[in-house]
Amino acid sequence: MTEPSRETTLTASQGSWPTLRGAPPVVIAHRGASGHRPEHTLASYELAIAMGADFIEPDLVATADGHLIARHEPLLDDTTDVAQLPKFASRRTRKWLDGREVTGFFASDFTLDEIHQLRAVQPNPARSREFDRQLQIPTLEQILALLLHHTQTTGRRIGLYPELKHPAFHLQLDLALEDRLLEALARHDLAHAQAPVFIQSFESANLQYLQQRTPLPLVQLLEADWLRYDADFARVVDVEIPDWGDPRGGVRPNSLEDIADYAAAIGPAKRQILRDSPTGLQPTGLVAHAHAAGLLVHTYTFRNEPAMLAPQYANDPVREYQQFYRLGVDGVFSDFPDTALAARSGMGR
Ligand code: G3P
Ligand code: CA
Repeated sequence: MTEPSRETTLTASQGSWPTLRGAPPVVIAHRGASGHRPEHTLASYELAIAMGADFIEPDLVATADGHLIARHEPLLDDTTDVAQLPKFASRRTRKWLDGREVTGFFASDFTLDEIHQLRAVQPNPARSREFDRQLQIPTLEQILALLLHHTQTTGRRIGLYPELKHPAFHLQLDLALEDRLLEALARHDLAHAQAPVFIQSFESANLQYLQQRTPLPLVQLLEADWLRYDADFARVVDVEIPDWGDPRGGVRPNSLEDIADYAAAIGPAKRQILRDSPTGLQPTGLVAHAHAAGLLVHTYTFRNEPAMLAPQYANDPVREYQQFYRLGVDGVFSDFPDTALAARSGMGR
């Protein structure tokens, strides 16, 4: 008898949703509704909230005077007009970032007052530039105020899903991100165990540091090549997370079970769940293994543009979401939360 596929087995053998706890998968607005507005702007987050996203996702970096702002990386070059402002030309510099020497304008060399003089631009060449140079770079405080305003006015529970970007880099600059984030969350009554907040990072030491200081759920992000599988891709047999010299962590995790000692979830790339193979995309056992270890699985990143979709979806992003939902993921990071939500509604559960 032919064995049922991993996908079919998961769908048939669990509750209404094949997620860790049977709940619907959450839709995380990746950098806001960044498919529709410049990423990490209040307009992007506001649109995501209006669309009904469960969480908005700010990536966080620090300014020279210690404020947390929303940018995908410490460099400002691709997502702001900084390079067009002669007054800041001398700030272009070189720094070591995660083992690489990079040149550009670093947020950590600008005060918040100077950051407020910049405007966001569209970094993705496939997307509209109609909002370029109109929108400011938001602080975490502004995002929290926006979130709480909409939570109060709509009565809807809207979550925050902050990512701490390059924690070891910021620690070395004496601009550590972790306590700044916890203090800001506490000021807005979002630091307690029931708050709708997940804290994510691609590093491990800072998450272990946070585990000692907050009851909030932590998410270990995983790059596509950090996991090794057994021969039939059923189980993860090794995990390798780079260490950038952060002395705060206790242990180097080598397995999903090690990660479960400090995190509530993993954030893997999509290709760790549906891997490329000579016969097309094939499910791995990552979701089942993570669930067995007690970990939620929130996977990244879903984008509507045809160039970002595998051929099997025939230019229909809903098909991609629904395949991942059937595989049991607990959440998706999406640039187009409207499409992710429509795909979820279309599952008829
Ligand atoms: O945080 C999940 C996903 O956003 C990770 O990718 O590079 O877009 O922050 P990145
Ligand atoms: Ca992120």
